[in-house]
Amino acid sequence: MYLRRLLGRLRSMNTIKIDLDRRSGLIDHNLFGGFAEHLGRCIYGGIYDPGSPLADEDGLRTDVLDALRRLKMPVMRYPGGNFVSGYRWIDGVGPVETRPARPELAWGTIEPNLFGTNEFVKFCRKINSEPYIVVNCGDGDMREARDWVEYCNGAQNTALANLRRQHGFDAPHNIKYWGIGNEVDGEWQIGYKTPQEYARAYKEFAKVMRWVDPSIKLLASAISNWRTEFVERTNLLLDQAADYIDYLAIHWYVGNPDNDFAAYMTASELVEERLSVVEGLIRAMKLQRNIHKPIAIAVDEWNVWYRARGATVEEHKNLEETYNLEDALVVAMHFNAFIRHAQMVKMANIAQIVNVIAPIITNPTGLFLQTIFHPFEVYSRTCGNIALDAFWESETFSGGSYSGLRLLDVAAALDEEKKSLSVYVVNRSEHDALETRITLDSGQFAGPVQVHVVNGPDIQAENSFDHPDRVSVFKTDLRVERNSFVYTFEPHSVTVLVSALA
Ligand code: AHR
Repeated sequence: MYLRRLLGRLRSMNTIKIDLDRRSGLIDHNLFGGFAEHLGRCIYGGIYDPGSPLADEDGLRTDVLDALRRLKMPVMRYPGGNFVSGYRWIDGVGPVETRPARPELAWGTIEPNLFGTNEFVKFCRKINSEPYIVVNCGDGDMREARDWVEYCNGAQNTALANLRRQHGFDAPHNIKYWGIGNEVDGEWQIGYKTPQEYARAYKEFAKVMRWVDPSIKLLASAISNWRTEFVERTNLLLDQAADYIDYLAIHWYVGNPDNDFAAYMTASELVEERLSVVEGLIRAMKLQRNIHKPIAIAVDEWNVWYRARGATVEEHKNLEETYNLEDALVVAMHFNAFIRHAQMVKMANIAQIVNVIAPIITNPTGLFLQTIFHPFEVYSRTCGNIALDAFWESETFSGGSYSGLRLLDVAAALDEEKKSLSVYVVNRSEHDALETRITLDSGQFAGPVQVHVVNGPDIQAENSFDHPDRVSVFKTDLRVERNSFVYTFEPHSVTVLVSALA
């Protein structure tokens, strides 16, 4: 009788099974990238604040640098965003006193050009990020784009390489990643382009940029407007310019405008659908056109953004979104999807890094960490190099147009060097703790499992200057048997289980 009851309980229990040999892709740490735009208080008053007592010798806020270092962002996209489609890079180099202020049309402000390419590169070096520059393919031309590459990477005795030297940078910056245009598929963009116009412009820009520096990696602005002809646009781009594309860049933002938690928790499906669709488009075109070179996906803008939106500065409030716990769960679900799709998703850049839809908020005297900072930090610091194809089953829920979705959202990664396993679990139940058996189908655990839990008092909990730790990370250790243990995932939580392997 007792045995039957026990077996029954075990059968109905939520389950995660991991086979260390079921590898689904190599994880590129660039999944944990960032994005900084000249917009609101991201650069000025966020990263760069030369008058502040918190600034270092380069005018960079040291508290912001310290917080960003915690996130271990290996790559940083810059300078936009919509901003770049009206930007002249030459305005932002050379002696600061001679730099012009210009009307900034994308966000309706004035750009003082106190921070530009060289300041950005210095900033990246201080946080160990690889700079990723987007060139202006809005109102800018290919000459300007190729000149920017020469200014940054030129090593010979040429005018623009010499201009960089004159500006105090003898060694080339060796910028590896270059994007051509931002959200060119959106009517809101300065210099919006039809699919034909962009495919043609992309190839011509790419050609001359590569001729200046053949080592650069190029990103094409493929999809941000998911309501238009994105299939045709992507196919045309791959058809005409595949030789010049290293990454297809896609963007999206999600949110909870109807205050419907269950519907919001199905954001995982939108991410899954979009990644699978773009993977399929790349695969189909590679087969059709006999393309053998790797073409990866870069989700080079993604985040939660729905509160601080609107056409005017008053409406969009400089995009200063205050995040709550449910947003942190959604950010974690994004990382789970990126890990599950690691075979083709090789870069992702959370938009953005400071103040503007960001994990870090500053004021003149300090900063606080938003809820979404915490999953980012735990994932980035624990994620290994191999994605594993985890099996899981759990109780289900319905939300939005979905039903039968598993309450647990799971991903797993192996760190081959450290011989450790990380299991990433979001419990999307608002009220129920979910008791779950976690089993290794091959291999054994060695020693206790480190448990990192991101959680707070309720799904609406936010952090602020007055209450910086309402949502935070709690760490414990768990003793486990050789290849199996039971863990109860707290309601509305993100849990990362890290374990050494025998
Ligand atoms: O990140 C904010 C804005 O969102 C970017 O400028 C633009 O590319 C996107 O629409």
